[in-house]
Amino acid sequence: MSEKKFPEGFLWGAATAAYQVEGGIENCDWARAAREGFVPRAGRACDHYHRYEADFDIAASLGHNCHRFSIEWARIEPEEGRFDEKEIEHYRAVLAALRARGLKPFITLWHFTLPQWFADKGGFEHPDAPEIFARYCAYVTRKLGNDCRHFATMNEPLVFASNGWRRGSWPPFRKWPGLDFLQSIPGHRRFRAQETSVRNVPRYFKVVSQLVRAHNAAYDAMKAAGFGVEVGLVHQVILFHSNWNPFNQLLASLMNWHWTHSFLKRVFKKCDAIGVNYYLHKKFGDTRAYEKTDMGWDVYPEGLCESLLMLRRYGLPLWVSEAGVADASDRIRADYIKRLVRCMYSAMERGADVRGYMYWSLLDNYEWAHGFEKRFGLVAVDYDTLERKIRPSAYVYKEIIEKNALVE
Ligand code: BGC
Repeated sequence: MSEKKFPEGFLWGAATAAYQVEGGIENCDWARAAREGFVPRAGRACDHYHRYEADFDIAASLGHNCHRFSIEWARIEPEEGRFDEKEIEHYRAVLAALRARGLKPFITLWHFTLPQWFADKGGFEHPDAPEIFARYCAYVTRKLGNDCRHFATMNEPLVFASNGWRRGSWPPFRKWPGLDFLQSIPGHRRFRAQETSVRNVPRYFKVVSQLVRAHNAAYDAMKAAGFGVEVGLVHQVILFHSNWNPFNQLLASLMNWHWTHSFLKRVFKKCDAIGVNYYLHKKFGDTRAYEKTDMGWDVYPEGLCESLLMLRRYGLPLWVSEAGVADASDRIRADYIKRLVRCMYSAMERGADVRGYMYWSLLDNYEWAHGFEKRFGLVAVDYDTLERKIRPSAYVYKEIIEKNALVE
């Protein structure tokens, strides 16, 4: 029997994002796209906005000691420059509920959805976007900086930019011409709202630069708020690796440079920590037939290890801010979690400064362009009755948490 013991104080929990679970958010770009029939409606989602206490009871009963969630920008700033104190009160109550149950909070200030007024101005294409974003982040920090220590400015900026301005599968549905093969990536569908134009190429790069500037400006503004909060950014690593072939090895390094390092090198100096989300890998020259998740993605949790090692060079603490699996039958989830934990452990043995892990997701939820059909939750949600039911795999995760170790 082997025991992989984690350091004392290691954090274990799960993650959610506002639009995917809260329900009742109608003033953002995704809600508009849904009303126009381009993406599925989120509607009341899991009604987590009203049921967060009961949901946190479940998380606590599963042994979790931390929880990552996001704040809905459109609730806090429903009109440009007008901030809603009542919604701050709501999130303050959410933080208090977490604290009361011994769950350390991690706030993501922006997880994909944009307030309608901001999207109408062009969103991150607008020249003032970085300042507008930084103003919002600083406002929330001033209001909640006493109640939460760990903040991330944004979730997966490159996924946001690629889906919105390259593949055209998410708002604002801009697409590069001749990239149809990208849409055949499992899990991405075609949308008829697409605007295909060569002008989207420079727009994409502009949006990426604006996101860099927005994060950096937000970091400074949040630090200036003076609460001493940790400010990071959440990046989804897509791991590119290869077989023995030197050509494939070169291709993999170029792709890792393109997807991960060319972005992180522009923001890491304004990060106190990096959140790592891991779901996808691409191994060049690999002919193995992988088992698939319900998203059609390879079952390859082992990629988490190399993903974490890749980020060692930034010398920052790392949070595994998301990793999990869509598995409606709960057939592979427990094993997937164990394999993730094993990989995290071996990355830590090799010097990656990992401080905690948040499974994606606590609840089944709105999986963006897929609507509600994909089920990532440790807890199943019946969308008719909103009843929650803990999946067996959640207890396997609980055992790991209770031992603070993987015992095999
Ligand atoms: C996102 C989540 C999403 C998950 C699964 C991540 O890219 O942050 O919002 O639900 O992947 O696709």
